[in-house]
Amino acid sequence: MTTLGIIGSGNIGSAVARLAVAADINVVFANSRGPRSLTELVEELGPRASAGTVEQAARAGEVTLLSIPLTAYVHLPGGLLSGRIVVDTGNYYPYRDGRIAELDSEDLTTSELARRWLPGAQLVKAFNNILAHHIPQLARPAGAPDRTALPVAGDDPAAKSRAEQLIHRLGYDTVDAGTLSESWRFEPESGAYTRIYLSDPNTAAENMLQAPATPLPAAALRTTLQTSKRAKVAERTF
Ligand SMILES: NC(=O)c1ccc[n+]([C@@H]2O[C@H](COP(=O)([O-])OP(=O)(O)OC[C@H]3O[C@@H](n4cnc5c(N)ncnc54)[C@H](OP(=O)(O)O)[C@@H]3O)[C@@H](O)[C@H]2O)c1
Repeated sequence: MTTLGIIGSGNIGSAVARLAVAADINVVFANSRGPRSLTELVEELGPRASAGTVEQAARAGEVTLLSIPLTAYVHLPGGLLSGRIVVDTGNYYPYRDGRIAELDSEDLTTSELARRWLPGAQLVKAFNNILAHHIPQLARPAGAPDRTALPVAGDDPAAKSRAEQLIHRLGYDTVDAGTLSESWRFEPESGAYTRIYLSDPNTAAENMLQAPATPLPAAALRTTLQTSKRAKVAERTF
């Protein structure tokens, strides 16, 4: 891969972009405010980074990272991601997204709903279960003994495999967590969500944004995914 398109230049989008440029991958960013608002970030990341429209970011590379609030998905131009491999980092937070009946009822996982909203996109769920500030902390070169693993879910085996190749190059091992319908295993409040990467798993919720991370090998993640319990989404208050 030579170029990664990134829609969403916030916490997760910019953290993944930093790993990408370090791995000699070009990134094309887009956000909601347009390319000029991205000048500072692009300058900071150096010559491998550029800014464009969402259309330009969507078409920039073989894979597009989609890292925007869930409710913004429906505001993307129709058909934007059709036929594209999309790494979906989205999570459902009712305080931000409002209540979404299909998610509260647990009829759908967040990425299954995203797939309805983004027809034709080959969605792969990843990077949604790790805090943004842990992404640079835990990345390691291939073969490092303390590589951390991220779960990956998707319905299209070829798209999933392509996304896994990208994630490996960015500095992480991967564990296949199954289809999008099984991706609840690493959604908020499930067993394989962000806490699994904390040095101190008992860190108080209000301190999580500063808490340091610790590596999580693939075997441990696999076990955690298998024993994960589905969150009672309707009871979520944040
Ligand atoms: N933060 C975390 O640690 C974390 C961890 C795991 C998963 N996630 C999930 O990952 C997603 C992104 O989270 P984040 O924390 O990176 O969000 P964020 O910092 O709030 O950034 C959101 C980005 O989305 C862009 N955006 C919003 N609406 C858009 C639209 N219609 N078209 C194009 N771009 C749009 C924003 O652009 P503007 O700035 O121009 O508005 C901004 O660049 C969310 O679903 C979140 O739940 C976050």
